[in-house]
Amino acid sequence: MSTNKKSVALVTGAAGAIGRAIARNIAAQPGFELILLCRNENKAEQAVAEIQQATGNIDVGYELADLSSQASIAAFAERWQGSLHVLVNNAAVTPRSREETAEGIERQFATNVLGYFWLTRALTGRLKESAPARVINVASYWAGDLDLNDLEFKHRAYHNGEAYRQSKQADRMLTVAFAERLKPYDISVNACHPGDVNSRLSNDLGFGGHESPDEGAATPVWLATHPVGAERTGKYFEHGQERTCPFGRNRAVVEALYERCLWY
Ligand SMILES: NC(=O)c1ccc[n+]([C@@H]2O[C@H](COP(=O)([O-])OP(=O)(O)OC[C@H]3O[C@@H](n4cnc5c(N)ncnc54)[C@H](OP(=O)(O)O)[C@@H]3O)[C@@H](O)[C@H]2O)c1
Repeated sequence: MSTNKKSVALVTGAAGAIGRAIARNIAAQPGFELILLCRNENKAEQAVAEIQQATGNIDVGYELADLSSQASIAAFAERWQGSLHVLVNNAAVTPRSREETAEGIERQFATNVLGYFWLTRALTGRLKESAPARVINVASYWAGDLDLNDLEFKHRAYHNGEAYRQSKQADRMLTVAFAERLKPYDISVNACHPGDVNSRLSNDLGFGGHESPDEGAATPVWLATHPVGAERTGKYFEHGQERTCPFGRNRAVVEALYERCLWY
């Protein structure tokens, strides 16, 4: 890594379809150093090599963490020191049958919701020191039916589409909760739908995808690099447009979800 004063952007799930395109498109812009936060070292190495070659940016590296594990995230945050100007929470899964992590938490809730929550909290100190800074939560327009009393599908039949929609609603709600908490520190927090892209995740949901990874990455990259991503906070975007989000309106429910996430 060079010692120049680039903005540091960390992208989770950066070996996946959309995450890799987000990382590549940020790396292609002048003045960015990229950290790809992945769980699989071979995939991470391949993604770094591909992005360096495609962009000519040598300031692209990787770190490893299991984002469904609070212990793994804590260990990463302890180990990884450095500035952080842009955090893109993007890694997600949607297993077809109900699974639990080694920490005993339903896997979609652990990865798609608590993974974003734990990582943002673990890196808040780094974001504050580096501010102005931004957090972009990759969510979805396909979101809803969150049940605060059964976040882990212990009392309902598990269906991966339902668990996924709930997780993406939670991502959009927690965006509002974090935005309020981090605004005094000059840290913006916004959520977005990326695009409909063919991927492991979309295939597990039974979808294909009519947009390219670069098209899917466009809105998160815009929020990560354009002034709008610093000027707005607590908002939800689709295809480069701010959209009204019903999920952040009831602040009592937003706070209740934040509190529930703290229990873990
Ligand atoms: N594709 C779509 O049409 C679509 C639509 C709306 C929203 N989204 C959102 O876009 C984001 C990216 O999805 P995608 O379509 O690009 O999916 P993807 O290709 O399946 O990529 C998901 C990435 O997350 C990583 N990941 C999963 N669990 C992890 C864990 N425990 N620790 C660390 N990394 C983990 C995966 O790692 P491995 O590579 O090691 O498996 C993979 O790189 C998700 O937040 C999704 O909800 C996608």
